[in-house]
Amino acid sequence: MESSYRPEEAREVLDQWRLQRRSIGFVPTMGALHAGHLSLIERAKGENDKVVVSIFVNPLQFNDQSDFDNYPSTLEQDRTLLEDAAVDLLFAPTASVMHPMPMNFKVAVGPMAEAYEGYYRPGHFDGVATVVAKLLLIVGASRVYFGEKDIQQCSVVRRMVEEFHFPNRIEVVSTYREEDGLAFSSRNVRLTASSRRVAPLMYQNLQKAAKSIREGQDPSFVINSAIEEVATVAKEANVDFQFDYVDLVDETFGPVAQFSEGLRIVAAWTLDGVRLIDNLSV
Ligand code: PAF
Repeated sequence: MESSYRPEEAREVLDQWRLQRRSIGFVPTMGALHAGHLSLIERAKGENDKVVVSIFVNPLQFNDQSDFDNYPSTLEQDRTLLEDAAVDLLFAPTASVMHPMPMNFKVAVGPMAEAYEGYYRPGHFDGVATVVAKLLLIVGASRVYFGEKDIQQCSVVRRMVEEFHFPNRIEVVSTYREEDGLAFSSRNVRLTASSRRVAPLMYQNLQKAAKSIREGQDPSFVINSAIEEVATVAKEANVDFQFDYVDLVDETFGPVAQFSEGLRIVAAWTLDGVRLIDNLSV
């Protein structure tokens, strides 16, 4: 695996591949790699001649400094995983390379960034869109892979790519889950033993809620019951449970009251201070 730390180093390798007419798959990450990332890489390997992975913990997308400070950083372990996964190029820039100061330009995302994750994490999607735009320009990939767990991020990136006429194809890969249904996330390592036991209940209960909604039951009633069940178990386990939102949304991330095709339930909740997100189709 080749490694590059600056855009111009990465471009030297990438330009060669393009001259050789190799297709390039790109998986942008913030490191702390887990099986979910490896599933994106596996898909990219199957669909492209060469695969590039970036590791960059993007300060612009953290609205909470302590969240940024506590974000796991495991570069050497990540490098081994990427080598084992036969990735062709690792791009791992520093913050000063990625965002030279003073910063004069940022991507400003419109109303689609105001609800849900955008509401609870002000500025988050502007930060994501800014770094993803830069990464897409540096890597120039044929296909770029994102995990469906961050469904609102996928919508923001898709829309940005359409509006700015980026030539890349965005591929969304289904959420990779533990056996009990908990979505893989870099934050899972911060769950205590008791909060880890409570964590999968949200997805398990929302799956039942989705089934009831399809069968015609009232969405807000079944969603509220699902949340209450998680709250009860968390209380019994002495785990602090808070939720930011659990809602039925359409593809514009507007809330909807009634079942129709293509809806999803989106959820964000906190267990003993660790914030988790998930979503599932109804
Ligand atoms: O999903 C992530 O890991 C990040 O938001 C991304 C897309 C790498 C941008 O920093």
